[in-house]
Amino acid sequence: MLRAMTKKAYITTAIPYVNGAPHIGHALDYTLADIWARYQRQNGREVRYQTGVDEHGNKIAAKATDESLDPQAYVDKMHTNFVELIQKLNVSSTDFIRTTDGHHKGAVQYIWQQLSQAGLIYKGSYEGWYCQGCESFVTDKEAAANNGICPDHQRAYERLSEDNYYFKASQFSQQIREAIETGKLRIVPDFRKNEFLELIKDGIKDVSVSRPRKNLSWGISVPGDDDQVMYVWLDALSNYITVLGYPDREEWKEYWPADVEVVGKDILRFHAGIWPAMLLGLGLSLPKTLLVHGFVGVGGVKMSKSLGNGVGPNEVIDNYGTDAFRYYFSRHVPTQEDGDFTWEKFEQAYNNELGNDLGNLVQRVAAMVTRYQAGVIGDAPQAEHDMGPYRDAMDAYEFNKALDIVWNTVRSLNQYLENVKPWEIAKNREKDTEASDHLAEVLAHAASTLLQVSDLLAPFMPATSEAIKVMFGTGVLPAEITPLFPKIYLHTPDPRAPKA
Ligand code: MSP
Repeated sequence: MLRAMTKKAYITTAIPYVNGAPHIGHALDYTLADIWARYQRQNGREVRYQTGVDEHGNKIAAKATDESLDPQAYVDKMHTNFVELIQKLNVSSTDFIRTTDGHHKGAVQYIWQQLSQAGLIYKGSYEGWYCQGCESFVTDKEAAANNGICPDHQRAYERLSEDNYYFKASQFSQQIREAIETGKLRIVPDFRKNEFLELIKDGIKDVSVSRPRKNLSWGISVPGDDDQVMYVWLDALSNYITVLGYPDREEWKEYWPADVEVVGKDILRFHAGIWPAMLLGLGLSLPKTLLVHGFVGVGGVKMSKSLGNGVGPNEVIDNYGTDAFRYYFSRHVPTQEDGDFTWEKFEQAYNNELGNDLGNLVQRVAAMVTRYQAGVIGDAPQAEHDMGPYRDAMDAYEFNKALDIVWNTVRSLNQYLENVKPWEIAKNREKDTEASDHLAEVLAHAASTLLQVSDLLAPFMPATSEAIKVMFGTGVLPAEITPLFPKIYLHTPDPRAPKA
């Protein structure tokens, strides 16, 4: 593979609220970012990769009260679910931030002071509709259009009227619009960019960035005003720089601006509006790209706490393994659109694509090399496939398409073996050197194609990629070969079962 010059790169993920167990939507954020991080490392870049959790706000305080815990004890308990998920997903993140970290809290207060000194924070009173699920106000128009109920959280908007501090985001409307239009702040995919530009066609509005302590107790205090607590989004968005050590540890400058910020479609408006305004207010550069993914539903239905139809990533990983999870969510959930999960679809993809297409192929080639050539892979010219389309798909953040291309290679190799029939050639290998040379060539070609597949899969399925490399990478197969993706039928009929 071509190696670019070593250069630092930085990718971030949204930090989930810890008021529940992680679901497959959270895992999607981590997985997409990890694919990018691993791909860049493969290309020789040194990648810093932030993940973490969002621990403040009323939503979390309310959950803590339900469990008779104080909020800190509650988040201390809950955040470990996310740490475990990240490990289980084999995510190669370098940083994990909790917004209750001491350094983060101090840095956010510093950010507030900077914005305040720049004349960007003022006091006002506000009345409007608020959704605690989103931790955000909506316009009267939006509230009316939704009949007073937040469609994302199925909860009634509350009418709030209070004294708050405001952040003059409006001041940066023009600058932000320009940055987005010119691609200086790139929003991927294009239709999300257009949606956002439409949303701000009358300008970005000032945002309320604090609430009276009596209405919001669990958050970072506003410096110099003990009666006010900071709005959770101001606190949360700051994580992308505080995690790097901003403002006191100089190394943040080596990584900021982020190359890519991965976010779900519901929170694009915070990342393309308020966050850039904050950065401009601080005199900092904007992230280069916002990669916006869609929502994963379950059987065509939105996951929600009230429906109880959420799928936990552990349920998937514990039965089918990490790489199968990563595969489904990067190929069958299109990177830039909404996707769907059902156990049936998942299990079919697992058995057919991972089990048959890839697992059997690897197994077959390995078995033939063992049987016919005592495990020795002959020399073959390096497989020469045009990797341009794969790279184009990766660079365009269309990870699902990149995997389609890998699967074309896998399927062609299966087809090639069906056509060439090495098991037929093998019949004459002992008496006919031409046959044995031909056989060695066929198997070497298969092994070298699989090595290339291993390279292409490395960002997506690191353990599988490594397993294939270990098998075919040294010229001699290891003595023991563990089959990849053995068949599992928990949700679909087992075709091997005896007919009743
Ligand atoms: N705490 C905020 C983010 C702050 S970032 C500075 C938040 N948390 S969240 O837990 O609601 O969402 C975290 C991430 O998960 C977001 O990117 C969100 O879009 C994503 N998803 C939540 N539900 C999802 C699906 N059903 N499908 C895919 N992703 C979804 O928002």
